[in-house]
This record gives sequence, structure tokens and C-alpha cells, in this order.
Amino acid sequence: MTGIRIDGKIISQSVKNRVKSAVKELKNQGINPCLATILVGENPASATYVKNKHRACEEVGILTKDHKLDAEISQIQINEIVENLNKDDSVHGILVQLPLPKQLDEFSTTSRISPLKDVDGLTPHNAGLLTMRKAALVACTPSGIMEMFDFHQIDLEGKNIVLINRSNLVGKPLYHLLLEKNATVITCHSKTKNLKKFCQSADIIITAVGDRNKFTLTSDMIKNEAIIIDVAISRFENKLVGDADFEEIIEKASFVTPVPGGVGPMTVAMLLKNTITAASLSSQIGR
Ligand code: GUN
Repeated sequence: MTGIRIDGKIISQSVKNRVKSAVKELKNQGINPCLATILVGENPASATYVKNKHRACEEVGILTKDHKLDAEISQIQINEIVENLNKDDSVHGILVQLPLPKQLDEFSTTSRISPLKDVDGLTPHNAGLLTMRKAALVACTPSGIMEMFDFHQIDLEGKNIVLINRSNLVGKPLYHLLLEKNATVITCHSKTKNLKKFCQSADIIITAVGDRNKFTLTSDMIKNEAIIIDVAISRFENKLVGDADFEEIIEKASFVTPVPGGVGPMTVAMLLKNTITAASLSSQIGR
């Protein structure tokens, strides 16, 4: 049996169409949604991601402000840039592209973002609200994955879900979103013993390791008709790949996301959605 390929391009387009209409409505109310991005240094993958985010904003009518900072910038200097964007009423969302160079502390930088403009859901305020099922702004990759489940009407209640990631941007927010849907969620990571056993017991595996030299999800590690969501993207043997061996896995799984064209486009679409949420939050608090 061959499983279904979950097409992130199609699902992200449906999110973008909704965002496009919401942007029009906001503009009719005199609000011009705007996302500010901060990119530090020359990491080529990060530069590509930010460029894609800008292009997607343009597609749906969201304005962008682009801050490209020198790789050597100090913590004090980046803090000041974030503070200025917090105060700027024409900016509704702020995104600091991660990872940051070594001299900068990710927590100090991202926790400084106003929670109302925190389109990555990374501030302690928004991360805390998520644990209480009250967050308006949730990390983009996890909420994009939830859209994929919705699109395919995949019922999560009672499902055993294994996460292979515990980061603030992926594993931790996903844990809470999935728990809200009454799934049983296990978070695995690099120190987990017997990862294969956990995977073999899972109805759904969401994997985000991103290093094929360390980990590949193969078909002997999954049960029949499992659902595989592959968040990773890395270059391996000169190809862009995820954690899963797609061609092999889709023969056994019921649904699989491809790489590229799976979760990646969803992350960008959810960033657009979060930016319009932030723009409407700003109008509600009447600044
Ligand atoms: N780096 C990789 N993914 C992300 C993301 O979703 N947000 C930010 N800010 N940086 C990232």
C-alpha cells in the first residue's frame, strides 16, 4: 500500500488565500499590516528563509521592513533595534531569524520582543499562554503542522504521538497543541534511549533532527499506516532531504510530508497569518 503525500504547497496556498482577504479587510480599516525581520550575519540558509518570508508577505499584501545586521553586532545594539521596533506603531510583527551568532543570546533577544508583536510565539508571555490554551500567537511550524492535520481531517484524539525534537520553536509548542487535541504525546531527543521502540509504537511521528549523519527515519522504525510529519531540512549527498527516507516510508505509512514542499511552506504561511493576527491585536488595544 502507498500512503498519501501531504502537499504543503497546496495547504499553504489555502492559508495564504485566507490571509490575503484578511489583509484587504485590515486595509479597509486603515491598518497596513507590516512585518519587520532581523537577520544577523551571512548564514546562507537563514538569508534564503528570510527572503522567502519577504516574498510571501509581498504576495499577500503585507509590508516588510528588512534589517540586515553585521555578524559582529553586540547584544546592546540588537536590543536597541528590537526596542525601537517595539515602539514603532507601523510595525505589527517582529521576527528575529534564528540561529544567532555566538556573541548574541537568543533568549535575551527574542524575549525582548513585545508579546503583541511576537509572531514566532517565542516570548515567555506567549509560550506561557500556550501551556494554558490561551495563546493568540503560536510558533509558526507547529501551527502549520496543525493546519496540515486539519486539512486532511486527521483526528488526533487518543493517538500516540512521538515528537523527535524538544526545541522552543518546534517540539515544545507542538507538545501543547497536540495535548489540547487529546493526543498522548511523548517528546524524544538526542539522549532518548531506544528511540526505535518509541517510534514503532507511534500512530504519528513528527521528526525534526536535521542531520542525516546522526538520524534517518526508516520504514523498519514505523508501524503500518503510521503518519509521518518531517520537519527537518538539510543537505545530504547533494540533495535537500528531511529526516525520513520518503520513497521508502510512503510505502508503509498512511500519510507523509515530503521535503521540500511539506512543512516548510506551512511555516511561512503561518508567519503571514500571525502577522495579521498581530495587526488586528494592535487595533483591538487601540494604540
Ligand atoms: N529559524 C528556523 N526556523 C525559524 C523560525 O520559525 N523562526 C525564526 N525566527 N527563526 C527560525
